[in-house]
Amino acid sequence: KSKCFALHPWICFLIILILVFFGYESMSPRSLLVGRLGASETVLILTPWLAPIVWEGTFNIDILNEQFRLRNTTIGLTVFAIKKYVVFLKLFLETAEQHFMVGHRVNYYVFTDRPADVPQVPLGAGRRLEVLTVRNYTRWQDVSMHRMEMISRFSEQRFQHEVDYLVCADVDMKFRDHVGVEILSELFGTLHPGFYSSNREAFTYERRPQSQAFIPQGEGDFYYMGAFFGGSVMEVYHLTKSCHEAMVVDQGNGIEAVWHDESHLNKYLLYHKPTKVLSPEYMWDQQLLGWPSVMKKLRYVAVPKNHEAIRN
Ligand SMILES: *[C@@H]1O[C@H](CO)[C@@H](O)[C@H](O)[C@H]1NC(C)=O
Ligand SMILES: *[C@@H]1O[C@H](CO)[C@@H](O)[C@H](O)[C@H]1NC(C)=O
Repeated sequence: KSKCFALHPWICFLIILILVFFGYESMSPRSLLVGRLGASETVLILTPWLAPIVWEGTFNIDILNEQFRLRNTTIGLTVFAIKKYVVFLKLFLETAEQHFMVGHRVNYYVFTDRPADVPQVPLGAGRRLEVLTVRNYTRWQDVSMHRMEMISRFSEQRFQHEVDYLVCADVDMKFRDHVGVEILSELFGTLHPGFYSSNREAFTYERRPQSQAFIPQGEGDFYYMGAFFGGSVMEVYHLTKSCHEAMVVDQGNGIEAVWHDESHLNKYLLYHKPTKVLSPEYMWDQQLLGWPSVMKKLRYVAVPKNHEAIRN
């Protein structure tokens, strides 16, 4: 059965219109997928609530750069380097200097319990780095979940006065291609690379109604990755505060969502639809997933590691 007809007929009609507009004569069985101009593969480029899904070929970076430069936009990049994860900072920051928001004003916010171990990385003009000292936790799940609390607290105290947008990223990653202002919007999430072509039944949402992150079967748009999200400081503040509060409620009820902060992020983004969605170009693991031809660029990728050794 065609996926298209699971949607509202009007949305289906619109997608067909776009297909026609883009010159596609026959619809593939995966009729939800819409072609990029000049690309041979088809991918979904618009959500059913009409938010763009950002793929290479769907935007003109020169026009966008000019728009955001005219507004003198400042972008905050938050990253958590707790305990042994400080070893990832150097590569993360060096590659961010090469690929992340080049030509724009950038504040790196490095949250760490080991401020003395933050490496000195030469920064370009208009870019600075702030070290924010936070406590550590024994369990990596707690380290991961407390990021929401820290981001919301610092958004309120500092970030709202210092930057226009926040991008919240995992540290055990590197930038390997352009990540620029095309991602910026009021609220954005990134498609999880393991689920971007899956049906919603396969998504690993929290399924226990006792958890605040609960999403019933049959609901859900996409499965978003916890490792890369962001938006305006206000929207990120609301998201992180809400996720943190939900995790506190769960803790009081003796339950922890199956994928921790990522489960809560998915719950939040189901009921607060993102205004942009990033394709898995913005979050990829080549070791696990190879390089499918639908990916024109791998922009932000996992670095090979021994996770257990680092976490413990
Ligand atoms: C851009 O913003 C920064 C701080 O927000 C300010 O110091 C700088 O003067 C601004 N530049 C222009 C051209 O407005
Ligand atoms: C956790 O932080 C404390 C200081 O806040 C430090 O003494 C301790 O070594 C840290 N634990 C780990 C495993 O890094």
